[in-house]
Amino acid sequence: MRLTYTADLWWKNAVVYCLDVETYKDGNGDGVGDFRGLTQQVDHLDRLGVTCIWLMPFFPTPGRDDGYDITDFYSVDPRLGTLGDFVEFVRTAKDRGIRVIADLVVNHTSDEHPWFKEARAGRDAAKRDWYVWKDDPDPVDPEAIVFPDKEDGVWELDKKSGQYYLHSFYRFQPDLNLDNPEVRDEIARILGFWMQLGLSGFRVDAVPFLIEGIRGDPHSYLADLRAFMNRRDGGAILLGEVNLPYPDLMRYFGDGNGDEVTMCFDFIGMQRFHLSMARQNPQALADALSQRPAPPKDCHWATFVRNHDELTLDKLTDAERQEVFAAFGPKKDMQVFDRGLRRRLPPMLDGDLRRLKLAYSVLFSLPGTPVLFYGEEIGLGENLKGEGRMAVRIPMQWTPDGGFSPVAAKTPVPSPTGKYGPRNVNVDAQRRDPDSLLRWVTMLIERYRESPELAWGDYDVLASGDEAVLVHRADAEGGTVVAVHNFADREAEVDFVLKGLDGRRVLTDLLVDGTLDLPADGRVRFTLEPYGTRWLRSAAPDQPLEDASAKGS
Ligand code: NOJ
Repeated sequence: MRLTYTADLWWKNAVVYCLDVETYKDGNGDGVGDFRGLTQQVDHLDRLGVTCIWLMPFFPTPGRDDGYDITDFYSVDPRLGTLGDFVEFVRTAKDRGIRVIADLVVNHTSDEHPWFKEARAGRDAAKRDWYVWKDDPDPVDPEAIVFPDKEDGVWELDKKSGQYYLHSFYRFQPDLNLDNPEVRDEIARILGFWMQLGLSGFRVDAVPFLIEGIRGDPHSYLADLRAFMNRRDGGAILLGEVNLPYPDLMRYFGDGNGDEVTMCFDFIGMQRFHLSMARQNPQALADALSQRPAPPKDCHWATFVRNHDELTLDKLTDAERQEVFAAFGPKKDMQVFDRGLRRRLPPMLDGDLRRLKLAYSVLFSLPGTPVLFYGEEIGLGENLKGEGRMAVRIPMQWTPDGGFSPVAAKTPVPSPTGKYGPRNVNVDAQRRDPDSLLRWVTMLIERYRESPELAWGDYDVLASGDEAVLVHRADAEGGTVVAVHNFADREAEVDFVLKGLDGRRVLTDLLVDGTLDLPADGRVRFTLEPYGTRWLRSAAPDQPLEDASAKGS
C-alpha cells in the first residue's frame, strides 16, 4: 500500500498501547508509578513497535474509580508528576515516533470536583445547571445500572437541596449536563489544552452516556467536538468506548459521514473471539467479522483482547456467556457484575504459551487497529485479591524482582505471587528468550506494520477445510495477505482456495521461514499444528517481499 496513505491516516494501522502511569514505573522512588518512570521506559514501547500510547486518567482524583473520578481536568495528579513531567514524556515519545492520546472522561466529574461542590451549594448556584438534577426521578430499569454490585440506581438525593442528581456510574460521579453550552465550551477547552501540550487525540469514555441527555440531535454534538478537534489538528483522533450492537454503533461514527468518533472499539468481535477460544472453533468470530459493517471512510475499528475493565460478555447470550465462564473463569471470584471476567488472558488459558501466541496472532491479523493493555506483551497475570475490576491493574513487571519501584509498591493492587509473579513473568527475561511471548508479539507487530492490508484492506473469511481453522484474506492495492489460525489443540488439515491471483505466485510465510507454491487453481493445502498460525503473503516468485505490499504509484 502507498506509505503516504498509511502515514496520513496513521490510526488505521497503528499499534495502540494502553497504560496507567500509576502502575507502570516508579521514577522517583516513592512506590507510585509516575511520568518520569514512564519516560524512562519509552524505549521498551519503541522496541515493541507501539505507535500510539493511550494514557488512562492521570488527573487529580480521590481515586475512588481508579482515576475515572476527576477533580481537575487541567493538571496532573501530583502523585504521578507535574505538567512539566507530562510534557517531557510526550516529547520523548514523539522523538521515538510514538503518538500519545489520553482518556477524555467528561460524562461526569468526581463529586469532589469544585464544579460539583459549587453546583450543590443550592438550587440557585451559578454552576447548578452544569449537572443534571430532578425533583422526582422515575425508577430506573435495573438492567441500566452499570455497576450493580455497588449501586441500585442512577439518581442520588442531594439532601441539602432536596433534589436528585444523575450518576450513570457510581454515586460519587455526578453526570455533567452536556445540554448546557457552558459545559460544552469547557469540554472543548479541555481538549484544546491537552492538544496544545502534545496529545494526538482522546479515548472518549462512555460515549453513549455522554450524549444521551442532549436534547435535539445528540449526535450533532459529537460531530461538533470532532470538528473542533480536527480544526486544531487534522490528524488527531477520537477513539470511542461504544459498547452497542453493530447497527446502533454505526451512528457514533456519524453513519456514512464518518464525522463523529474516528474509531470505535469492536466489543462484539472481542466477545466472539473469547467464545471462539473457549469452543476451540472460530465460527463465532467469523460470524462477527461477516456481520460487522464497514466503517465510514477514514474511520476504523479498534480491536482488542483485554482492557482495564472486566472482560465483558454482555453481548453474548446467557448460554454463550456460561460457556466462556466455564472455560475461562469458573470460580465466582473470577467473575464480576454477572456479565464478565476480572481476569487477564494468560491465567484464563492456564498459561499455555501456544494458545497465547495464537490469540495475539489472531488479534494482529484482524481487520482493525489492535489495542494492547500494558503487560499483555509479556503475559502479565492478575491478582484476584484486588477489588472487582482492579484485579487486572497490577504493577508492570520489568525484572525478576519486579523492577516497578526501588521501594515497596504503593499501587492499589500488588503484583501476584507464584506462576505469574515477577520472577516468572518479566520483560528482562523475555527479551533474552527467543521463544518468549514478548519476542513473538514484537515480531507480530513488525509484520503487521509491514502488512497494512491486514488492518485496513478488504477482507473475506474463506472456507478453511477444517472447522477449527479460521482463514481470512486481506487485499489492498494489489497486495494480498492470508491469515490462517488453528483454534484447536489438534492438528488440522487446511484446504482453501485463493481466487483471482494472476500469474505464477508463491505464498511466503511471514512468521516462520517457508514458502508454498500457489498452484494455478489457487488451491492451498497443508497441515497446521495444534494452535498453529500462518500469515502468508502472495508475491511473484522473484519479487522482494517488501514490494509485494504494492505501494502503488
Ligand atoms: C468506562 C471506563 O473504562 C471505566 O473504567 C470507568 O469506571 C467508567 N467508564 C466510568 O468512567
